[in-house]
Amino acid sequence: MAEAKAEVKVGLQGVIIAQSDICSIDGEHGKLTYRGYDIHDLAVHSTFEEAVYLLWHGRMPGRKELDTLQEELSENRQLAGEILALLRELPPAQHPMETLRTLISALSLYDPEAEDMSPEANRRKAMRLTAQMGTLVAAFARVRNGEEPIAPDPTLNHAANFLYMLKGETPHPGDARSFDVALILHADHSFNASTFAARVTASTLSDLHSAITSAIGTLKGPLHGGANEQVMRMLLEIGTLDRAEPFVRNLLEQKAKVMGFGHRVYHTEDPRATVLRKMSEDLGRRTGNLKWFEISRAVENMMIREKKINANVDFYSASAYYVLGIPVELYTPVFAVSRIAGWTAHVLEQYANNKLIRPLAEYTGPVNQRYVAIDNR
Ligand code: COA
Repeated sequence: MAEAKAEVKVGLQGVIIAQSDICSIDGEHGKLTYRGYDIHDLAVHSTFEEAVYLLWHGRMPGRKELDTLQEELSENRQLAGEILALLRELPPAQHPMETLRTLISALSLYDPEAEDMSPEANRRKAMRLTAQMGTLVAAFARVRNGEEPIAPDPTLNHAANFLYMLKGETPHPGDARSFDVALILHADHSFNASTFAARVTASTLSDLHSAITSAIGTLKGPLHGGANEQVMRMLLEIGTLDRAEPFVRNLLEQKAKVMGFGHRVYHTEDPRATVLRKMSEDLGRRTGNLKWFEISRAVENMMIREKKINANVDFYSASAYYVLGIPVELYTPVFAVSRIAGWTAHVLEQYANNKLIRPLAEYTGPVNQRYVAIDNR
């Protein structure tokens, strides 16, 4: 490729393309906030539902507002019969994200407000999509195993209900709370690739379902949401604590990337990894299954010692989800169960103050070509 004449920011690295009131990341100090609230504070004191309200409305809810949101979410979890029928009819996916992408796109065909671009309709669609993402992922997992989907339980919160729909039993309160915290941690992350994709789509004034479909396709990639699944596959391949160091050394010698490490924005530890590390350890201790935490720790020590690269959000979510009994191929869809809150908040923000997102590229291809008839080439 020719040398760039203009200054090209490959991968938009370091480029600020908009102002946003939703989420801030301080990559130097490892600080993440939603609407000014520190993620560590939210992880200790808040719930996923409260974080959703905060992301959508820009402030913490009062008791009545939170109750209303909880009711709305639980009332809208049920999927249309046509969507469940479609889920059963689709061919087996090579990856669950294919099915999720297809079904989220299909939801718009059954949403009477799909093309209504009023702020009120878009808020209602954001709520429905957030309510239904978990039901879709759990139903997918059940159908894939030849089991019947389990109807949502309106008495359970979002996190507990997801685990219930997945496994068919009311989860241990400790598991439900751990998953609730995981949902809070994954709910938003500023202009990450999938959120950016959603905002690009929204900036054409395309509908909310289209924007979220773009986001899901983007989250699927192994450099983004697909990393958590790859981390667990690596931990399973390592298998025993004594194999962790040689395994990672071998990867590094081959100049391969170790999934769950590194970040475009954080130059220090990802603050979500700090919470998830403790969660992985606590879950491991409570269930008597510390092995995956210990292998993870050994991999992390090696990465810090040899490469000075820190764990990101995907690294310890892998071992935590494993101990929670979430199937490995669901890890990326589970990311979407949470990130739908941030995606929709960003799309609403984009609509509220829209400008078409349309960057430039420096052309480096051939010039002054003359058209030659096909028989003369
Ligand atoms: N394992 C090994 N080396 C890594 C690494 C990893 N996970 N992440 C970054 N590096 C190294 C790169 O090899 C590169 O080294 P070099 O300069 O000697 O070539 C340097 O660190 C910069 O990495 P680069 O991929 O150019 O940074 P980026 O900002 O474009 O990419 C990620 C950021 C997240 C895509 C990248 O760190 C990565 O691929 N991580 C693994 C996937 C992952 O966990 N994704 C989830 C992100 S939340």
